[in-house]
Amino acid sequence: MSVASLKGRDLLSMADLSAEELQELLALAAELKAGKLPLRCQDKVLGLLFSKASTRTRVSFSVAMFQLGGQVLDLNASVTQVGRGEPTVDTARVLDRYLDVLAIRTFEQQELETFAHYAQIPVINALTDLEHPCQVLADLQTIQEEFGQLSGLTLTYVGDGNNMANSLLLGCALSGMNVRIAAPVNFEPDPAIVQQAKTIAGDRSEVLVTQDPELAAKGAQVLYTDVWASMGQENEAESRMPIFQPYQVNDQLLSLADPKAIVLHCLPAHRGEEITDAVLEGPQSRVWDEAENRLHAQKALLASILGATPLS
Ligand code: CP
Repeated sequence: MSVASLKGRDLLSMADLSAEELQELLALAAELKAGKLPLRCQDKVLGLLFSKASTRTRVSFSVAMFQLGGQVLDLNASVTQVGRGEPTVDTARVLDRYLDVLAIRTFEQQELETFAHYAQIPVINALTDLEHPCQVLADLQTIQEEFGQLSGLTLTYVGDGNNMANSLLLGCALSGMNVRIAAPVNFEPDPAIVQQAKTIAGDRSEVLVTQDPELAAKGAQVLYTDVWASMGQENEAESRMPIFQPYQVNDQLLSLADPKAIVLHCLPAHRGEEITDAVLEGPQSRVWDEAENRLHAQKALLASILGATPLS
């Protein structure tokens, strides 16, 4: 069955989920992946309002909704009045009258929160500059598949303290995992989120932010990275290169991790920059399973938010 307490709820941040809800969602995602629990959301309509490019999020949300028996509307800003500047507060109230659920990819977290405030339907964060919770659902599913558990494991994220670092801090803390972020000075994760993760973790697990990638990688079961310049930061890509070079995930850094460690990357990857081709394509990489799990994790999320029923 779907996670009943999530019915009708928004997912704007990883911290919108309790530890129990996260655990239940991951269990549901695993069941859906195994094909054990066909669920239906017949006649429900998901809107995708994306102001940034997307392959995985757009396609996995669309396929998940089709497989649940629902429909998807692509509300690309360039073909709606959003692209011509219609106010968010107006768009939110109008889309609320047509759709059953709305997934938004945008820049400012505040814009997402405004949508959620003015639209009564559930709103899902499909990536903002602050967070990417849907990616972390798939990441945690992938880690659980590999190790059979989450609690007690250590995930080390190396690179830019961006939206991925922020959502991983929260998702790992909720799961009882130790989380270490190794980022250069001035590129640390959001300080309020670091504090929130520490509060969630309590004395159950460790939350560490350091500038030292080698210290962070030592003994970790999961080594994670993302691009050094995210969408909207393309003009900084060249100037960031020398700052981030010591934070590359390569064979040397991987050799410091647990011998059974796996490597994750949310993709798209810039081979030869934040990760070497050898590591991305190597035996410890789980990036393709991770990408596949976007489908299963988001299907579990949609089914729960929409109150899907088992196929009889
Ligand atoms: N990882 C991720 O969100 O991929 P897309 O940008 O392709 O959706």
